[in-house]
Amino acid sequence: METYSYEKSQALFERAVKVIPCGVPGHMSPAVNIPPSAYPIYAARSEGARFWDVDGNEFIDYMCGYGPMILGYGNSVVDEAARRQCEEADLTMCASPKMVELAETLVDMVASMSWAFFAKNGGDVTNYAAMVARSATGRKKMVAIKGGYHGVAPWMQALGHHGVIEEDHTHTLRIPWNDVAAFEQVVAENPGNVAGFIATPYHVPTFYDNELPDPGYWQKIESICRKEGIVLILDDIRHGFRLNMKGSHVHYGFTPDLVCYCKALANGYPISALMGTDAMKNEAAKVFYTGSYWYQAMPMAAALACLEELKRLSAPEWMLKQGGHLFGRMEEMAAGYGFNLKVTGEASMPNVRLTDDPSGMLHQAWCAECTKRGAFFASHHNWFISMAHDDEVVARTLEICDESFQIIKEATEQGRLAS
Ligand SMILES: Cc1ncc(COP(=O)(O)O)c(C=O)c1O
Repeated sequence: METYSYEKSQALFERAVKVIPCGVPGHMSPAVNIPPSAYPIYAARSEGARFWDVDGNEFIDYMCGYGPMILGYGNSVVDEAARRQCEEADLTMCASPKMVELAETLVDMVASMSWAFFAKNGGDVTNYAAMVARSATGRKKMVAIKGGYHGVAPWMQALGHHGVIEEDHTHTLRIPWNDVAAFEQVVAENPGNVAGFIATPYHVPTFYDNELPDPGYWQKIESICRKEGIVLILDDIRHGFRLNMKGSHVHYGFTPDLVCYCKALANGYPISALMGTDAMKNEAAKVFYTGSYWYQAMPMAAALACLEELKRLSAPEWMLKQGGHLFGRMEEMAAGYGFNLKVTGEASMPNVRLTDDPSGMLHQAWCAECTKRGAFFASHHNWFISMAHDDEVVARTLEICDESFQIIKEATEQGRLAS
């Protein structure tokens, strides 16, 4: 197979660094994907499970745009609904009837939730959830998981990040994942002052394996929250609609007070949602929270179409099965070359890692070889499956994996890579 080169991406990046801090800020900054020379920087076109960069290279996207793409790029049902809405009215002075329709649809669909509030980014609604929890309880402390990510607000970023000061973290208490005793301890050490507990359905720390909840973990967390009057916040922004259409809390058998959605809600159109139980509704109404584009109707129409399609296709079940098949084959293939590929988390959104080299360089090299042949694999972050990752896409992916395993096998045998 030919490997890719990225001259046009790199030329654009040279222009970008002169006028944009970091050139490309955020999750596609060339500092993020290692080695940077293996990855494209600018995309030109997308369709189904694939995108094409500005150099004309074709990629199967295993990051799904970092999660939002769930039905495939350019899904005609969603795009048509968005286009129709745009022709009628998008952003106006008033809220759209689509806001009511979308809230009703979500309330009917997501278990135990009786209202929905809409914003744009995931961080908008995790921050709002914390404010609602603080308002509802009159308490200050938020308990979160070490290595858990909930957005870029200073209290949610890791301490030590530039621009984050110690005071931003005064009321954020971090405990390890799956550690019920640590939660009990933190609650005992802050009597009557823990407002909320926030976590993702399962733990997805960057650079590390994913960790599922231990049996009974969520039920024990829920019972402590109920006993202590702590608001239980599920951050379903990344996992949402890839485990269960009724909510990831149904998948793991517990009932949160607030649930945050974003990424896959509208197949790439910008919208996020905070949902809550009846008991939280008046508290949510008291908190002042708004944004310039939050009435935008086009993403709401897109979300309605996206949710209907996901339900019609039994999307989470299909993605879990398809992912199970793909990653099972990948593990077998790695074993055939003498490597250990570790797949953690659920199959619709797993973390995939070659464990043979503790430095991670072998894994980075394999991801890079795959990417340069057309399967975009990040080496530090969980991957995503979409409804467009059909059998043809899976078969092509496995061909790319096979050739890339051969390349790194030869490189390790010749001492060019550790294993
Ligand atoms: C679990 C989780 N919560 C919150 C966020 C923040 O979402 P956004 O980047 O849209 O603000 C993310 C984004 O990756 C996420 O994965």
